Amino acid sequence: MEQLNTPKELLINDSEMIVSSTDRKGNITYANDVFCKFSGYSRAELISQPHNILRHEDMPKSVFYLLWKRALNGEVISAFVKNKAKNGDYYWVKAYIKPIIKDGEITQITSYRKPINNFAKEYMTNLYKAILDYEKTHTIEESMKFVEVYLDDRGLTYDQFVDRLSLGKGVDIVHKINAFKYKNAHIIFKAHILTEIKNKNLDVKVNDCKSCEFGKRLIELENEQFAKTKEWENLVKHHSHVHDALQNYVNKARAGATQSELDDAVKEVNSDTALIFENLTNLIDNYKG
Ligand SMILES: Cc1cc2nc3c(=O)[nH]c(=O)nc-3n(C[C@H](O)[C@H](O)[C@H](O)COP(=O)(O)O)c2cc1C
Repeated sequence: MEQLNTPKELLINDSEMIVSSTDRKGNITYANDVFCKFSGYSRAELISQPHNILRHEDMPKSVFYLLWKRALNGEVISAFVKNKAKNGDYYWVKAYIKPIIKDGEITQITSYRKPINNFAKEYMTNLYKAILDYEKTHTIEESMKFVEVYLDDRGLTYDQFVDRLSLGKGVDIVHKINAFKYKNAHIIFKAHILTEIKNKNLDVKVNDCKSCEFGKRLIELENEQFAKTKEWENLVKHHSHVHDALQNYVNKARAGATQSELDDAVKEVNSDTALIFENLTNLIDNYKG
């Protein structure tokens, strides 16, 4: 029976797991007691019904499109899902969906669901709203592209994105720093200087740490919340050291240093470069924004 009151959120216990299976068309073939408890349907009402019986109108189409695409391809997939119970109440789950393959055929797909943390719930509520809005005026292919670009911008695969949120870790910080782009730019810059010196081009210029692309990006971001962390302070320090160490290497080459002196100078450049990115990785891994 549809309820007249405002829908309530049903909270799943950490020790509970909601399990159901479908055939390859999405018709329910199995539901455990916890599934019945949260959905509000009896087992008899569920068996043979399409699984969209629980579909909540806040869920974007593209999530299910991706889920089915991966499952029918024989792959496991996790997804955050808001489900609607029989009386209109709702509950959020993290679903782990696993196809069962027998003799090369997918015979059954099972979903194991656990509760999700509040950080992921809030993040996904906003993100699903944005995707849903987009889907009102776009095709499913365009919506899938939207999701792909959203993940690309953050430098994350879909699975990494779900994993980070599941651990209560932020996903937007990766986007803001755009770490991989600038990391590669810096490594290329370093390689350029080393190659020029090997080729005896002693006029090669080491720009200062504030005018390289990575340094400019660090300055642009210095008012961000994450720039107040110890990791950020360290990575800025090591970035400046890398430029000093590179300049030192070039100066030594100009002064006719021995190969072993030059090798030592390169070691210093490399160890400071490693420390920049170690701090960057730690920041991205631990920061919650
Ligand atoms: C094993 C399995 C479990 C599923 N669990 C849910 C679920 O809990 N809630 C839901 O809305 N859709 C679930 N689906 C997806 C539905 O089959 C369906 O694609 C979705 O509800 C969208 O319905 P629609 O295509 O009719 O819009 C599940 C699919 C599979 C294969």
